[in-house]
Parts: sequence; C-alpha cells; structure tokens
Amino acid sequence: MQLQSSLFEQLPQAISPRSPSERIEELRAVLRRADIAYYTDAMPIMDDREYDHLYDELVQLEAANPHFITPDSPTQRVSGQPMKEFQNIAHDEPMLSLQNTYNREEVQDFDRRVGEGLEQRAREYWCDLKYDGVAMSLRYENGILVRALTRGDGTTGDDITQNVRTIATVPLRVQPVMLNGAPLLDFEVRGEVYMRNDDFLRLNEEREAAGEKLYANPRNLTAGTLKLQDAREVTKRPLQLACYFLRLLRLDSAATTAQQTLLSQADNMRLLKEMGFPMAQHSRLCIDLNDVFAFIDEWETRRETLPFQTDGAVVKVNSIAQQTELGAVGRFPRWAFAYKYEAKKARTRLNAISLQIGRTGVATPVAELAPIALAGSTISRATLHNADFIRDLDVREGDMVIIEKGGDVIPKVSGVVAEERDAASQPYTFPSECGCAFRQPLKRIEGEAAYYCEFAGCPSQIRGRLTHFCSRTVMDIEGLGDKAIDQLAEAGLLTTIADIYRLHEKRAQLLALERWGEKKADNCLAAIEESKKQSFTKVLFGLGVRFVGEETAKILAEHFGTMEKLHEARIEELSSVFGIGERTASAIANWFQSEQNRRLTQELAALGLAMHYEGQALAGIVTPIQGKTFVITGTLPTMKRDEAKELIQRYGGKVAGSVSKKTDFVLAGEEAGSKLDKAQELGVQVISEEDLKAMMAQ
Ligand code: IVH
Repeated sequence: MQLQSSLFEQLPQAISPRSPSERIEELRAVLRRADIAYYTDAMPIMDDREYDHLYDELVQLEAANPHFITPDSPTQRVSGQPMKEFQNIAHDEPMLSLQNTYNREEVQDFDRRVGEGLEQRAREYWCDLKYDGVAMSLRYENGILVRALTRGDGTTGDDITQNVRTIATVPLRVQPVMLNGAPLLDFEVRGEVYMRNDDFLRLNEEREAAGEKLYANPRNLTAGTLKLQDAREVTKRPLQLACYFLRLLRLDSAATTAQQTLLSQADNMRLLKEMGFPMAQHSRLCIDLNDVFAFIDEWETRRETLPFQTDGAVVKVNSIAQQTELGAVGRFPRWAFAYKYEAKKARTRLNAISLQIGRTGVATPVAELAPIALAGSTISRATLHNADFIRDLDVREGDMVIIEKGGDVIPKVSGVVAEERDAASQPYTFPSECGCAFRQPLKRIEGEAAYYCEFAGCPSQIRGRLTHFCSRTVMDIEGLGDKAIDQLAEAGLLTTIADIYRLHEKRAQLLALERWGEKKADNCLAAIEESKKQSFTKVLFGLGVRFVGEETAKILAEHFGTMEKLHEARIEELSSVFGIGERTASAIANWFQSEQNRRLTQELAALGLAMHYEGQALAGIVTPIQGKTFVITGTLPTMKRDEAKELIQRYGGKVAGSVSKKTDFVLAGEEAGSKLDKAQELGVQVISEEDLKAMMAQ
C-alpha cells in the first residue's frame, strides 16, 4: 500500500504526557484524516495495524472517560467522507466495517465472544477471501438493478449506478429463483469491485507509455475508475465484482412475502450464484474453529497463486438468526471479522543499481537483484524511484535488502539489512553520466528529484518517444508496439516520429526484416495512414514534451489553437493559462525553442498530421469578461468553486481571493458571508452563477 510519507511523518507515534481530553481530540483528528485519505482519496496515510492501534487507544480512553464521548467521534459512527461528484444517498442499512485480527489468539478471543453472545450454542463459520477492492452495494427491485452505491462513510454512499452497469459481470436483471415459494426479486447484494493483477499491470504499462501517473495498486485503480464521471471511460478498464452478502428488502411488492427469510450465509451465497452473480471465490463453510484456522493457513500461502489481490480472510457466523442475535457494536458486527495476512517479504542481494533512461530523458535508478521468488513470481529488478529515495533508505550496491509485495502487485525495496553490510561499503552516489555508449552527462534540475539526460540522440529516449507516440492512448498505431519499434530503430528505419510517416517509402526494406510479411507490413502501413486522422490534441500529447500528458495537451490545444501559436508562446503566456504551472510552462517553452523540434513539427505538418485544434480556440477572442476581476463566495447552485474559477479564467477573466475597489464582480451563491457584505459596502456588482453563464454566452 502506498503511504503519503509526508503526512505519515506528522502522525503522533507516542503518547506524550497530556490530558486524556487532549489525547482523545488528537486521536480523533488523526483517525478522521486517515479515514478521508483511505476512503475518499484512496491514498492511505497509515497501514491497518497502525490505524487499529490508534483506534483501540481511542476506544479505551473513551471507555475510561465516557463524559468525553461526542457523537462525531470516529468510534461513534462508520467512518469516511463520500466523494462530492456523485449524488450522495443514504444506505438503508449501514455498511459496516470488519474488526481486524492478526493472530490465533485474537481469533480465539473473537470466537469466545461469539460463544458468550450465543450462550455457548454451537456455531459454524463461513470463510471468504478478503478481496482488496472497493465495497459496493447493489439494490435490485423486481429483479432489476436499480442502484449501485459505494460504501462512502458507511451511512451514505455515492450513486455510481451508471459506472457499475458497465461491469460486464454485474447482472442488470437477475435469473429468478424461488425462496420459500415466492420469487426472490427485491434484495440488496454487497460485494467488492476489484481489478485482476494482469489487467492492472497492462493498464499501468499503457499509462507509463503515455507518460501518465501510475496507479500504486489495483485497489487505487479500481477506486479511480469508479470515480470517473464518464461511464464510457469505465468500460475501457476491466473491473470485476465478487459478491459476499445478501439482504432482503421489505418492499410493498406483491412478490416479496412476509414468509421470505434467509437462513444462512451458505444458502445466501447459493441463491446469489443461482441468480447469476459473480461470487467471491474459494469460500467455504467451516464446522469449527480448527476448520477456520485450516482455511486461514491454506490461503496464507495459496493466495500467491490467485489472479487478484487478497489481504486476508473474512470469517462470518453462518446462521443469519445467530448473526441477528449477535448484532453490532459501533461500526463492527459482532458476527464477523477479518484475519489480515502480513505483506510478503524476502531478503536478497542488491547486485547493482542501473539506470533506465525514459523518453523524456529522466534517469530512473533500478535495483538489479539476485533473483528471488516472492509471492508467486521471481523478482530480479525493482524501481528505486530517484536519488532521494535511495538517499532516504541509504541503500547501497552490494547490500542485503528487503523486498516487499503488499497489496501493490509491484514489488518494492522496503529496507536494508544494515547489520550485514560490508564494512567497506560506501553510500550510493548518483552517476554523472548516463551509462550508454554516448556517455552523456546527467543533470539535476533545481527543485526536482530526477536527473535528466539532455542528449537528443539518446537511443533509449528515441525508442521511448516512438513507443509513446504509437501507443494505444496516443496515436494508436497497431503493429508498432515496443518490439517492432526496437527492431525498426535498430534497422535504421526509424529515428524520429516523422520517420513513421515515411515508412511506406521503405516498404522493401521493411519486408526484408525478420517476421515482416506482406500482410503485416500492409496492415501496419494502413494503421499509420489511419493515425493521420487523430486530433491535434493527440499529436501534441504524442510529441512527448515533459509534463505534457493528455489533459495538459487538451488545455494547450484549446487555448492556443495551432502548433504555430504554441511555437510563438512565451513562458509568461504559457503559465498564465489555467492548469499550466510554471514548471510545465518552462518545459513547453524549452521544447519549442529547439530548432530540431521546430523541424519535427514542420515535417509532421507536411506529412499531413493535424496542426489545428478541432474546436474554437480561446486565445485571441475578446470576451465580455476579458481582464475583469472576480471574487467568488458562497455555494453556487451547480458549479463547484474551482469550476467557476476555471471557466472565468478560460474566458480571460481573473479570480481574486478578497474584495477590494479593484474587484469588478462578486460571484455569490448560497450562504455568502463577509465578502458579500464588503461588495455591497464598496458598491461592487454582485452576480449569480446564472448571470455569469449569460455573460459567457455573449
Ligand atoms: S463482509 C459486515 N466479505 O472488507 C460484513 N467484506 O474491512 C461486511 N471485504 O468493507 C463485509 N472481502 O469492503 C466481507 N469476503 C468479504 C470481503 C469483504 C473484502 C471488504 C469490504 C468491507 C471491508 C471491511
């Protein structure tokens, strides 16, 4: 799991001698932040153990000081903040969390408490794998999927029905089954949406080729996908569902009879399976605690062979009547718990640190490891990110290192076995040269973690640029994947992007290459020709300018309209465009200043690639709000503040933080406070969101 280290460092680790009430407030604040980071941002700032530890401390402090318990304490409600973009809807039964256990004693304690709750009556347990994904509630009425909600804060979740409908395995209408003589049509199913490891790795590879930020693990990618506003985009990312819970809805529908009752978790899973739901795999009924331990032990090792991420087992009392009898305390049911497996670790020798030069010239240090088997695969390389990462870990060539594979699929170097370090070993110094045959200098730009090779003729960069340009998310040229590009570059057929569009002149040379038959060559040339239809935005994105991903390319295309205008743009103009920071502006200006790059864009234009934005460019148009200063206050009816700000800036206006005589308009929404008073005092014109839209329409 990727932790945001800066926040993590700020967390209080030990109890300082302070009053219980202060410590309680401190713990609540930290837990709330951790909840938001985990549930809303999908960017955890601490691991589960740490969280549980702090949570337990808070529970104990509150138990000892009940007068300090307030309704907003994390112990008094299901935690987290739902995302803002989607409609927020209440769960008609809260989605609870699970208490975590980490060892046999804790499992035995749990079973003991269950025994006490059931007055020592016999009980069976249903054991599942714990899927590491995003929890989901699906509501079916009359056998039809009517709503999908995320867990959110457990009490309310986001309506992401449109996105969930795109998951192929989610039944939109169920195959009817009978329950106590009546068809089962009105119910809620809960399960985990997740992504398979292979799909995750493939999507991340595509993102890497496209120069986009990588997702840390399948769970984050799943959460990010479910948050996409455009359901069509969701279909491009293969999501899966694993169901593990069924609940009846009591609607006034004739079909749901009062006799319908659920008897056991095992029966429920059978019913769901019969109705066509994709079920959690490998679950089974355990007749006693020893059987539960057998399940836990079996999957501790076998989980390595699974095609998806699991971080533990979930154990549930099988009888629904017993579940009801046991009930819940706070946000935890008393009838279920999770058993968490430890992240898989291994020790191996770091033979050397090599450098990998990416398409923009960034030199990424890579750990060359003595091959070691870990959680189902053999690991011989792992990224060391950058010079800062190496320095913070003080990892040195020749060290014995710890490799970890948590919920992230991607193995990482997590530590050094300092005791086994050679006495003569020296801290790693980042090389001053790239290491390829051209021996180019590496430079570190002020304020950045990365070292760069600035040599335009660098073979790794050339290949990286060509691969990026041809990749699926950019120009989408089928037939020119990394292997083909390596082969053509080696044969001298490709050096620059423009060469791609001259390949048809070299058909004979192409055919002379190994594995290139007539059909393959013709298909490839046709795909190249077809790619000329790609938009100006894609072409811009494909050029491989540092920090210019697809989003930035879109902003640039929309603002400047033509390649020519971009060539002419100065840093100041570039950085004044909303969404373009100074670092990006300077990278763009640098790129366009180079004579070689100017030639490249001219060649591409002559070869027939799009050099104009397909819509209406904004630069140069005089709008009614050109140069006017706005202050935004209160809650706007439909737009978020950031959106309003972006809109104003795109149309040439400025947005300030406080009202003064220089303010032209105050854009006010509901509950506008002192800024509105100030505007009235100074006689500044106050407008509504609707007025703003009317101004844009002009
Ligand atoms: S049962 C009241 N079964 O774990 C019981 N949860 O830590 C409800 N999870 O929010 C959950 N696999 O997202 C259950 N087989 C499984 C699960 C599972 C993953 C997640 C779920 C839940 C979280 C609780």
